[in-house]
Amino acid sequence: MSAEGERKIAWVSEWMPVLNGVRERLRQEGTVDGRRIAVILPIEPKTAYLASCLADAGAEVSVAFQGAMVHDDVAAGLAARGVEVFARQGSSHEEEIDYFREVLARRPEVVIDDRADVIRLAHTTHPEVLDTLLGASEETTSGVTALRAMEADGTLKVPCIAANDARCKYLFDNRYGSGQSVVNALLDATNLLLAGKRMVIVGYGWVGKGIARRARGLGAEVTVCEVEPFAALEAHHDGFEVAPLVDACATAEVVLTATGVRHALGPEAIDALPDGALLANAGGIDDEFDVTALRSAATATSRVREHVEEFRLGDDRSLFVVGQGVCVNLSAGEGHPAEIMDLTFSVQALSAGYLLQHARDLQPGVHPLPAEIDEAIARAKLQALGLRIDTLTPEQEAFLRGWEAFA
Ligand SMILES: NC(=O)c1ccc[n+]([C@@H]2O[C@H](COP(=O)([O-])OP(=O)(O)OC[C@H]3O[C@@H](n4cnc5c(N)ncnc54)[C@H](O)[C@@H]3O)[C@@H](O)[C@H]2O)c1
Repeated sequence: MSAEGERKIAWVSEWMPVLNGVRERLRQEGTVDGRRIAVILPIEPKTAYLASCLADAGAEVSVAFQGAMVHDDVAAGLAARGVEVFARQGSSHEEEIDYFREVLARRPEVVIDDRADVIRLAHTTHPEVLDTLLGASEETTSGVTALRAMEADGTLKVPCIAANDARCKYLFDNRYGSGQSVVNALLDATNLLLAGKRMVIVGYGWVGKGIARRARGLGAEVTVCEVEPFAALEAHHDGFEVAPLVDACATAEVVLTATGVRHALGPEAIDALPDGALLANAGGIDDEFDVTALRSAATATSRVREHVEEFRLGDDRSLFVVGQGVCVNLSAGEGHPAEIMDLTFSVQALSAGYLLQHARDLQPGVHPLPAEIDEAIARAKLQALGLRIDTLTPEQEAFLRGWEAFA
């Protein structure tokens, strides 16, 4: 199994030139050498390659994640590369917490976290690890939201970099990465046609926008549901239908949630769905649609394809849940394309390096990745792509710094 995982990791490494450059720089400068880094990310080939790059640069790396988003062959391939892996596909919630505890027992100096899962665990049940933890770097929108809530109530005890909020991350990963990988996973899992289907997208943030555009490109009739007026207006001017959730669900053939909010698709909307509707979640919260309520309302459930579960309801309807209701591109697919994760994981590797060097100068709280690091990653990516851009002339720079010339 590890040979197949190794092939997958080796394949993506060819498409991540910026991360390869970051690895070399970290190695030459000794930034992570002998330092303990925990990587809490879905275990697929790109995350495995990030962990492996950090280990190559000298870090002691341990990795863990929840079972719905673990590819066992990749985990085995990563372990064969000398990284400690605590994860198993299909593991229970209790096992997942045990895996996180194993990682915390290694006393990481930096945690590259997802959804702030391990940082929250460290602050609630394992405060002793905070003595040696310098900081964390957070992968996703929902994790940054949780860290900001901790900061607001004074709970957060370490500096955390909002890696998600780096421009090299959300502009590409959340939008183009999710757009492609969520739609791919849905179609691969079901082997159905998107052209002509009525698709409802709940949440029109970066992730929702990416999915909506890709789905329209494949011929879906997309309706967007939002709670935020600017996002709804943006969807309207992007050419999508905008409607309240329950109205949109009445005719939906596919519903995708991308909100980061628990139960964004609640019982009323589920009741409105027609027979045969497909449900999938692209957001970072596991129960963006209420899978537990759906399960208890069902008279029978059955796995109809590897990643599709049928829920038969008492009113003669069947609904189909794709990817267990958790991030569908990771539970029923291999996640974002490697070229996109080249940016995200360069952000993460450099955030970890930055924390190792500067965390002691930072207050506990949520911090941005320094803009010059973000920009350097974008420039390295342009260079890797062979794309050149212009620079402002001294005269243009002077114009932007002044104000008299506006008259
Ligand atoms: N699948 C992936 O690979 C992937 C990648 C990046 C982010 N994410 C996750 O996807 C989610 C969305 O991320 P984002 O960056 O687009 O966030 P965002 O904050 O940019 O967008 C979320 C949108 O959802 C809307 N929303 C919130 N509650 C709603 C509700 N009840 N009904 C309708 N709309 C609602 C908000 O108004 C907002 O416009 C987060 O949980 C994030 O962690 C997933």
